[in-house]
Amino acid sequence: MILYVVVVIAGGKKLLSRKQIIFFSCYQNKLHIRSCFQKSLNAYLMQNRICSLFNIKYPIIQGGMVWCSGWKLASAVSEAGGLGLLGAGSMHPETLKEHIQKCKRATDKPFGVNVPLSYPQIDELMDLIIAEKVKIVFTSAGNPKLWTKKLQNEGIKVVHVVSSSYFASKCEDAGVDAIVCEGFEAGGHNGREETTTLCLIPTVRKTTSLPLIAAGGIGSGSSMMAAFCLGAEGVQIGTRFALTKESSASDAFKNYCFNLKEGDTKLLLKKVMPTRLARNHFSEQVEEKESQGASESELRAFLGRGRAKKGIFEGDLIEGELEIGQITAQINRMQSAQEVINEIIVEYNEILQQVKAEKGL
Ligand SMILES: Cc1cc2nc3c(=O)[nH]c(=O)nc-3n(C[C@H](O)[C@H](O)[C@H](O)COP(=O)(O)O)c2cc1C
Repeated sequence: MILYVVVVIAGGKKLLSRKQIIFFSCYQNKLHIRSCFQKSLNAYLMQNRICSLFNIKYPIIQGGMVWCSGWKLASAVSEAGGLGLLGAGSMHPETLKEHIQKCKRATDKPFGVNVPLSYPQIDELMDLIIAEKVKIVFTSAGNPKLWTKKLQNEGIKVVHVVSSSYFASKCEDAGVDAIVCEGFEAGGHNGREETTTLCLIPTVRKTTSLPLIAAGGIGSGSSMMAAFCLGAEGVQIGTRFALTKESSASDAFKNYCFNLKEGDTKLLLKKVMPTRLARNHFSEQVEEKESQGASESELRAFLGRGRAKKGIFEGDLIEGELEIGQITAQINRMQSAQEVINEIIVEYNEILQQVKAEKGL
């Protein structure tokens, strides 16, 4: 700033040539860029708001996933320095209770529960979460206003998953502690707007100052770095963890997904609940019905009950619903949750070192 004032005054009094003024202005600009990068460096070094909020080492969250994220996966992720989430969406309240208790025995690190707000016995489930003294809840598929304050009054941190900036501002009104922005690439249920992660994060960043967690198509250190450049401070990863050793998905489902290529997943069932599905006999039947203009009730009747359990958990690759994200095309082998986190962190730090070296930091 001082340099800037001196250059302006000296320039005005013709004490400096035009070339000298340009040189000093560029230098000033470089100093400004450097100081901005230094200010935000803590976020890139992973000593950021997401790590402090959950008291975790790495800002990597394992998304709650029906039929995949039980206590084995959640505790393995938390033990490896991320945040594991139990996926309550596919558990009866008593099953969730068992998983919470097993998770507590398996790790003394923080973990949380993901609750889709469309859950039928939601009151019972939330009472159980409070009684079990779970400290972190990620809600999705519903209105964040309904539960946020009640949970926060019990000392629980609440994060809500959104797919648009409109819903992000609803989260801000509801007073959540952080937001997950989940893009079109993601496995599981998806937003109707079909906004990709690359477009969603910067748009949401402009609408709120809350800590953001990026989700959808993230599975490497470089994609985590990209999300951070766009304004996220954490990442929520589903697909890559769904295909790890500790995931409770069937081996048949995992092996099927290892062989999927680009274009082998599609967003279907938009009239019911937009869901990204791997191509199989079931998804082809859905596609055919949709192209023939099937109504919501026809699609619901065809879907029936328990399709996701059939596909993901029981490994029925023909009639089951196989929920998985686009990034499955980049995953071709089974790893442990610990290996996944290590790989991401190593790659992330390599890129960070390169950037720092280039910027002379
Ligand atoms: C098999 C599967 C099941 C999922 N189930 C849920 C769920 O129950 N609740 C939820 O909020 N998100 C669910 N998701 C979304 C994940 O939590 C996460 O946000 C998403 O997978 C991130 O994108 P990615 O798949 O590209 O990593 C699911 C995803 C998958 C792949």
